[in-house]
Amino acid sequence: TWGTLCDYLPGLAESLRLSGGESRCAGRVEISLHGVWSRVLDDNWDIRDAHVVCTQLQCGTAEKAYYLPKSERGTGLVGLRSVQCTGNETQLMLCNTSYYQTVPTGVSEDVGVICSGESLQMRLVNGTNRCAGRVELYHHGIWGTICDDNWDLSDANVVCKQLGCGHAIEAFVSAHYGEGSGQIWLDDVNCTGAESDLWACPSRAWGHHNCQHKEDAGVLCSDFLALRLVNGNDCAGRVEVFYNGTWGSVCSNRMSLLTAATMCKHLGCGDGGGIATDFKYGRGSGPTWLDHIECTEEHSSLWQCQSDPWDPQSCSNRAEETHITCTECFGPLRVMGGEDECSGRVEMWHQGSWGTICDDTWDVADASVVCRQLGCGSAVSALSEAAFGEGTGPIWLEKVHCKGTELSLWDCPAKPLFGKNCDHKEDAAVNCSG
Ligand SMILES: *[C@@H]1O[C@H](CO)[C@@H](O)[C@H](O)[C@H]1NC(C)=O
Ligand SMILES: *[C@@H]1O[C@H](CO)[C@@H](O)[C@H](O)[C@H]1NC(C)=O
Ligand SMILES: *[C@@H]1O[C@H](CO)[C@@H](O)[C@H](O)[C@H]1NC(C)=O
Ligand SMILES: *[C@@H]1O[C@H](CO)[C@@H](O)[C@H](O)[C@H]1NC(C)=O
Ligand SMILES: *[C@@H]1O[C@H](CO)[C@@H](O)[C@H](O)[C@H]1NC(C)=O
Repeated sequence: TWGTLCDYLPGLAESLRLSGGESRCAGRVEISLHGVWSRVLDDNWDIRDAHVVCTQLQCGTAEKAYYLPKSERGTGLVGLRSVQCTGNETQLMLCNTSYYQTVPTGVSEDVGVICSGESLQMRLVNGTNRCAGRVELYHHGIWGTICDDNWDLSDANVVCKQLGCGHAIEAFVSAHYGEGSGQIWLDDVNCTGAESDLWACPSRAWGHHNCQHKEDAGVLCSDFLALRLVNGNDCAGRVEVFYNGTWGSVCSNRMSLLTAATMCKHLGCGDGGGIATDFKYGRGSGPTWLDHIECTEEHSSLWQCQSDPWDPQSCSNRAEETHITCTECFGPLRVMGGEDECSGRVEMWHQGSWGTICDDTWDVADASVVCRQLGCGSAVSALSEAAFGEGTGPIWLEKVHCKGTELSLWDCPAKPLFGKNCDHKEDAAVNCSG
């Protein structure tokens, strides 16, 4: 079988779901392959494996890992088989798994998970922007409000900080931003101001209160921050941030792919992104607000990442402005053994290890996709026969067939290496323009 790397490396993007349970956070584990929902079978399914599923689905922690009773077993295609996670992976794809085995071997069974539920969330409602409004918390699947008894600036400060909205300018009482409906989650909130989450502050127990919605609490925060891409489409373009009343640019000095990916995630554009180097999305004219942004894996919102302080002249040259393209399907890639970070043996991360690519059919079209994905310009050459030394560990792929226009190597047709047709003497490498 031939397909794209996305097909072979399940677990990327939103390709996992729980079905047949009481909520989206409980039920039989299913994975999408070739756009078809397939079964996950295992003979050693445990809480650590379940935990990775809950984490990937943002469903809190795993409460139970189980096998489906005979009557509820699936009958369709098998996507994954034999999943072994350590428990701290962020995606099932990063666990040690075997896949594409449609012929049953041994006694693997369909697996299920019960997660603790969606994690706690907070939002501000009915203000003019995301940094002002009625405070609402999401808990046990329900959005609810906060009572204004004892509501003051220290409480509001925790809200603003938590949302990446600067500090509190005002703590509103008496449903200033309108009355909510349904649940009132917290009352008598008494933060010191140092807490990182509102729910870490002292208060009555969840759902215990003596209030009505005309007492709903609200806040106004100092920063209204927003992110957009211009001159492209929703998920590709030149990056701009809104700060202090003005849209401005973001500079790309020392920007990593992970930071680009965090922007994509922030924009709801999938889990991966590349930094485009051809300036196709034009030049900005406003301030250049930010530079040296550095996100790590823990950051889901751009505003949590480290950067230089906001400054209308963060960088001097418009050629430093950031252009990105986001893609749903993207995974870690690196080059090793070369002279710099733009040349070397191509290695990709899969199932918990870095592995190499066999040089059969490896050509400049494949190399140009790698170079683009690494933010390294265009391909100077596609090298074979371990030109930058032999790798160790697995050889993940052979016969990669990119057209050259793909956004990432994960979009190219390829064949996973099941046989022993290649060894590390044939590791593929690239030399990019830089
Ligand atoms: C994940 O867990 C394994 C073993 O339990 C440990 O060796 C490894 O350092 C952990 N990785 C991270 C990123 O915490
Ligand atoms: C993955 O699992 C297989 C089969 O149990 C084992 O041989 C292999 O060493 C494991 N690989 C890693 C990286 O843990
Ligand atoms: C929004 O707030 C205004 C007052 O600022 C209020 O009149 C209106 O009902 C609110 N709407 C909602 C949906 O809460
Ligand atoms: C709030 O907490 C402080 C200690 O941080 C305490 O002194 C004060 O009495 C509390 N206020 C209320 C209304 O519970
Ligand atoms: C924000 O804008 C105001 C006036 O528009 C200006 O006085 C102030 O210095 C600006 N702050 C920053 C951090 O640029």
